[in-house]
Amino acid sequence: MTASALAPHFVAFAQTTRRRAPLYSRLSAGIADASLLQELYADAPAPARVPVMLFASVHHLLLADPDAPLARFYPNLGGGADGDPVPVFLEFCATHADEIRRLIATRLPQTNEVGRSALLVAGLAQLEAEPIALLDVGASAGLNLLLDRYAYADGHGHRLGASDVVIECAFTGARPGASGPHGVADRLPVLASRLGLDAAPVDVSDAESARWLEACVWPDQADRFERLRRAIALDAADPVEVRRGDAVDDLAATLDGLGAGRPVVTTSWVMSYLPAQRQQEFVGALDRWGSGRDLSWVWVEAPNVVPVLPVPASLAGDPLTTLGVTSWRDGVRTDRVLAQCHQHGYWLRWY
Ligand SMILES: C[S@@+](CC[C@H](N)C(=O)[O-])C[C@H]1O[C@@H](n2cnc3c(N)ncnc32)[C@H](O)[C@@H]1O
Repeated sequence: MTASALAPHFVAFAQTTRRRAPLYSRLSAGIADASLLQELYADAPAPARVPVMLFASVHHLLLADPDAPLARFYPNLGGGADGDPVPVFLEFCATHADEIRRLIATRLPQTNEVGRSALLVAGLAQLEAEPIALLDVGASAGLNLLLDRYAYADGHGHRLGASDVVIECAFTGARPGASGPHGVADRLPVLASRLGLDAAPVDVSDAESARWLEACVWPDQADRFERLRRAIALDAADPVEVRRGDAVDDLAATLDGLGAGRPVVTTSWVMSYLPAQRQQEFVGALDRWGSGRDLSWVWVEAPNVVPVLPVPASLAGDPLTTLGVTSWRDGVRTDRVLAQCHQHGYWLRWY
């Protein structure tokens, strides 16, 4: 791939990140024509020929070397220096070219968005049955399985829980069944057991893997970065289990083997990774399991990329992340749409 073939991707990335990630926007515009890109992407398979892979790789190396001059420009590393970061970035890339080329060629972008715990807690609070046997499908590192160990601030002065990991989620509208107007929930869910299932689990007890997860967060979003670090530390104190397996093929057996509690499946930004046919098969597997035993599924997914979601016609194809609960009781299935949300959990609007 030539630098000129990569340039449009970097120019476009500079546009899309302009508001939320000014550092990456500036860097992306500044390096779009750099001939060094050709070398850095030399071994990259087609899906890795995207700007995020270079930025995550550089961030990964920088997290291990926070005294490097480039770190002065990274807000999450205490930076925010004046001046032009582009030459410093290019110099860092040139110095670490071999490592960057290897990272781009061998890694995949990985995320585990802890902010989505606020959305999941809001959904779980709508279930009538506890304690819960929680199965998070597509759990990544499993950090959303710790949702009862986080605290939630609702933008209206209310806080639920006590924790180093505080998730700010501003609510609007009236929560179904709530006595007061606001709040993520009246109380945290009670979990009897918890388990994750993922095609490629991230083991955050391994320092390299944890660092790659951190590196995939944009440095301008220092709050997300800090929250992720604290959640990883919380997990280290009492790790959750995430089993390797497929969302469709291994679902029923994993549900059969769940620990104590009433089975609840959660998915957050997972179903869009499945082709449409596999999405149907996933819901079909839940339907089959739920026809014999009580089951709930709390979903945080976007209808435009997950057409199988049970949303009303007015929400079909909607790009906003949507929170819903599907329950099977005595073999009868009920679908409820609860809210529309920010994809990282910064806000929730009750539906
Ligand atoms: C965007 S991440 C979301 C992770 C987490 N649910 C969250 O909200 O932060 C998508 C996850 O789905 C997993 N995944 C993708 N396809 C899968 C499959 N067929 N079976 C199980 N997990 C899958 C990926 O490995 C990845 O960890």
